Amino acid sequence: MQSRWILNKHVVLVGLMGAGKSAIGRRIASRISAPFKDADREIEIAAGMSIADIFTVHGEPEFRLGERRVIARLLETPPLVLATGGGAFMDDETRALLAERATTVWMRADLDVLVRRTAKRAHRPLLNKGDPRTILDELIQTRYPIYAEADIVIDSRDEPHEIAVEAIRGALLERGDLVEREA
Ligand code: S3P
Repeated sequence: MQSRWILNKHVVLVGLMGAGKSAIGRRIASRISAPFKDADREIEIAAGMSIADIFTVHGEPEFRLGERRVIARLLETPPLVLATGGGAFMDDETRALLAERATTVWMRADLDVLVRRTAKRAHRPLLNKGDPRTILDELIQTRYPIYAEADIVIDSRDEPHEIAVEAIRGALLERGDLVEREA
């Protein structure tokens, strides 16, 4: 069946760990019948190991190179919704590529929300290095000024996903990145 929507540009979700990039990305993609990819998952498939194992075996710099490569490859495909890992947008090359080829959406969340959500699982290597609240607080200081360069900013609160999904869909329609097909 033909989709009711035409997506003209990639939609790429950025933001800190626990911001809801994958959960919201998956739902917005399904809402507009667009393909969805999770960059972390694609990195794991390409490497044949988990993100935690990549950090342990090869180290973070090697992970960052893989992350840059995988995102560049995903941006070669027709428009999709892409959830990225929290560090992806901090890479100058990736950020420049995204500025050219995608509409970026920063899922902004406050510290309490991030701490609560990330505490549910222990698979994130950066948060296993010390006290998660302190680490997330430091990442907020360093990363939020850069995430603020995203095209769209959405507040990620503890509320039904549908609210963020509709806010993103509305912003994409307004920008002309998403168009409703004529019947
Ligand atoms: C990272 C975030 C993780 C993952 C890796 C590093 C980061 O992704 O890419 O553990 O630097 O913030 P999520 O943001 O999806 O948890």
